[in-house]
Amino acid sequence: MNSAEIGVFGGSGFYSLLQDVREVKVDTPYGPPSDAVFLATVNGRKVAFLPRHGRHHTIPPHMINYRANVWAMRSLGCRCIISPCAAGSLQLEVAPGDFVVCDQFVDRTSGRKDTFFDGPIVTHVSPADTYHPILRKLAIEAIRENGITCHETGTVVVIQGPRFSTKSESKWFHDAGWEVINMTQYPEAYLCRELGMGVVNISLITDYDSGVHAGTEAVNAHNVLEVFRSNSEKIKQVVLDLIGKIPADLEQVSTVADLEYTRGDGHAMSP
Ligand code: ADE
Repeated sequence: MNSAEIGVFGGSGFYSLLQDVREVKVDTPYGPPSDAVFLATVNGRKVAFLPRHGRHHTIPPHMINYRANVWAMRSLGCRCIISPCAAGSLQLEVAPGDFVVCDQFVDRTSGRKDTFFDGPIVTHVSPADTYHPILRKLAIEAIRENGITCHETGTVVVIQGPRFSTKSESKWFHDAGWEVINMTQYPEAYLCRELGMGVVNISLITDYDSGVHAGTEAVNAHNVLEVFRSNSEKIKQVVLDLIGKIPADLEQVSTVADLEYTRGDGHAMSP
């Protein structure tokens, strides 16, 4: 049966070394996800892997069908999502190679489809604390156990992309005190909440964003990829270790969407 408990938005690096990986196509009311979903058993847990940019990295952040990706995970049965990503640093003390377990986001995207509630169900799911506290604690543990510098909290500013930020934008985010900048955490993390899934972000810092520190080079795509690749074994290990730590009976987040699932009125809100 095609089902999973834990979903990971991560690329082929995560499952290429695992045995008995099964590739399944998932249809959603929102169109196709970024790729097939890869199902495997990791540390005794059934896990679904979905590369958010597609397996050949062909989908840029602003073109990702976030609703289809998140819906696909929930429709397979996932109640926990691990959402690792590459990210820039907005503060000197957060260095390239560090990991940040973000606890807040600031949405600077525009025009993205960012809700499952377009009507007829009218509801408002709170993003006040989007990230799951227990998953965050376990992620911090897994990062530390791998000897990686870990920032236990952080606010990720999510920009629309594909362009990076100007020096003025970057200074503005820096002066606000936010730590991390990325292009994919919104609406991905929030949509997980709308479907009642617990979500944790692990930001792998690949660069100092433009204009934050005199003497640091402005971010470019080449550097981001290079640093991400050179740290890919670490992030993979952290995610696999984290999977092994998640309790089977993790307390689930309860949302209005949960209530809608049980209403059984046949509305397409039931994945
Ligand atoms: N992803 C990695 N580094 C980034 C940056 N500086 N800005 C936006 N997204 C990023």
